Amino acid sequence: METIDWKNLGFGYSKADFNIRCWYRNGQWGELEVSDSENVTLHIAATTFHYGQEAFEGLKAFRGKDGKIRVFRMEENAKRMQRSSQGIMLAEVSTALFTEAVRKAVRLNEGYVPPYESGAALYIRPLLIGTGPQIGVKPADEYLFMVMVMPVGPYFKEGFKPTDLVIYREYDRAAPLGTGKIKVGGNYAASLVAGQRAHHNGFSSVLYLDAKEKKYIDECGPANFFGIKGNTYVTPKSDSILPSITNMSLRQLATDMGMKVEERQIDVEELAEFDEVGACGTAAVISPIKRVYDADKDIEYLYGTEPGKVSVKLYEKLRGIQYGIEPDPYNWTAIID
Ligand code: PLP
Ligand code: COI
Repeated sequence: METIDWKNLGFGYSKADFNIRCWYRNGQWGELEVSDSENVTLHIAATTFHYGQEAFEGLKAFRGKDGKIRVFRMEENAKRMQRSSQGIMLAEVSTALFTEAVRKAVRLNEGYVPPYESGAALYIRPLLIGTGPQIGVKPADEYLFMVMVMPVGPYFKEGFKPTDLVIYREYDRAAPLGTGKIKVGGNYAASLVAGQRAHHNGFSSVLYLDAKEKKYIDECGPANFFGIKGNTYVTPKSDSILPSITNMSLRQLATDMGMKVEERQIDVEELAEFDEVGACGTAAVISPIKRVYDADKDIEYLYGTEPGKVSVKLYEKLRGIQYGIEPDPYNWTAIID
């Protein structure tokens, strides 16, 4: 293994030693297999290629101050992958199979879990694809479930420094009754053009509005949105956003800190009323936002250039639990030994 510059890791692919694979054939899942290859050989007519039969997950493992490795809320990722499977007719991976594969992938690549001091983490990417051939639009009869891992730093290059978002009304990420609430590749393909434009113009991500009325905040490209108003944590309620496990955790932590939590529609103009706003997700962790630019209306919503005090408190609490330095009253972390 080459030496890794843990402190300067960005969010990108790198090869670990092993990945885990499991095939679904003849109506059942086989044994977990360990592979050291980065390649997969698939049928030319596999449904993942033609009809987007693909779902993925993202979760992280952290090396604590005590040296132990903790994975955050993996059962929730397993459940979400099951909902994704129901949404696009993939064979379902049970929570037991999912968590066993995650544990195995982390254990076998233990050397890639960044040291505590680096603030980096091991990103775990489970992937489920239709591998059986179809040319009619039908679900496959064979599937492949894989888990790969890689050490990562912050998703937005600013890390915990506030970042900039942009609103463009001419792109939708997902339709109101479509696939926005599940984690399937097509949602991300649909976000590439807008994302590239945002990056080109110096923003770290697009802030999407609801596709139907273009009135309410949905979410960022790769993360949920939240706003802080006084002692209230506000986050969008929408059928076209991904139910973020980080956001769910922050709502609990905010409640425990004595804050009021509101999950409701957020009118875009309410952006003027928040004291702090942020993006949250596994990859984004909490990314404070310093500016939202509404490109269609040429309106700028400005927040501090330093993270707000509530965002800092939530960030420290969440990271504290993930790194094993704060009590974990809800058993969100699982130790890998
Ligand atoms: N929203 C989208 C579109 C995402 O891709 C992600 C990342 O998984 C999130 C939100 C955050 O979800 P989580 O906190 O479960 O990682
Ligand atoms: C995550 O936060 O795990 C994500 O999947 C976001 C993005 C990299 C797609």
